[in-house]
Amino acid sequence: MAGTASVERVKDRATGLDKFVLREARGSSVEVYLYGGQVTFWKNNFGHQLLFVSNKATFKPPKAIRGGIQICFPQLGSHGALEQHGFARNQYWSVDESPPPFPVATSNCHIDLILKSSQEDLKIWPHSYEFRLRVALSPRGDLILTSRIKNVSSDGKPFQFTFAYHTYFSVSDISEVRVEGLETLDYLDNLQSKNRCTEQGDAVVFESEVDKIYLSAPPKIVIIDHEKKRTLVLRKEGLPDVVVWNPWDKKAKAMPDFGDDEYKNMLCVGAAAIEKPITLKPGKEWLGTQEISAVPSSYSSGQLDPEVIRRMHTI
Ligand code: BG6
Repeated sequence: MAGTASVERVKDRATGLDKFVLREARGSSVEVYLYGGQVTFWKNNFGHQLLFVSNKATFKPPKAIRGGIQICFPQLGSHGALEQHGFARNQYWSVDESPPPFPVATSNCHIDLILKSSQEDLKIWPHSYEFRLRVALSPRGDLILTSRIKNVSSDGKPFQFTFAYHTYFSVSDISEVRVEGLETLDYLDNLQSKNRCTEQGDAVVFESEVDKIYLSAPPKIVIIDHEKKRTLVLRKEGLPDVVVWNPWDKKAKAMPDFGDDEYKNMLCVGAAAIEKPITLKPGKEWLGTQEISAVPSSYSSGQLDPEVIRRMHTI
């Protein structure tokens, strides 16, 4: 029998860290850590965990949790004095008790978190901000992350940032996965000094390390997992770019918090704003959303399953 939706704060036994567990009436659930504001678990109505978290992930500052959805702010990548992928993913967020009204309607099953500039951050990134993150689970089990970043500086100066929802999806076999929606786009290849290239072929497939930023991608991308007969649909707003990453065998071995063979069962695809940094004037707020859903798929001769198409149009 279907229950009711709930949001519960618990201390995780294994990690000792506080997290929120969101449960929807039809069986889907999400876990969000205050550490990093990071979603680590998302189970759909059919009971499948759709996100990857490494067996070797450490849940200890200053390291970010290896997996789930990392919030990369105020930068993706590694530039200047800021740490790689910014500081938001390895800070303790707080519960936002009374967030300002949302410009868009979201599900009632949600949690609001907030991160503000700390004295430590101000030394390396001297801008005052308020970062509000809403993690919501829709009645049919879709996971919606909405970020609102506001410039609250009193110095009258704008600031710039880049951003990504660095999303680790769980896949059955990386060599059987294809990503659609990115074909023919330009991308920056991190493996070739950020050279700008153009994607060839009718879909993105994986046979070796991939570390790319696709530019000006469409609002919907699909990740087709043949073996699991599952399609993950990613919808984005306010975030033009898409990060795609798989470390493959050599880099996997070099990462202490990642299993040697785990690259076979994960794929990072996440909405981002990288090529053109966001500029925020004092008092202004930016909003960026990523919504993911999982639907059963069958894929043959270049045609998407009608059910997938229906869901893509009705989300
Ligand atoms: C990707 C970067 O986005 O994230 C890669 O382009 C990097 O270069 C990967 O290796 C993981 O980064 P991190 O900091 O979580 O190990």
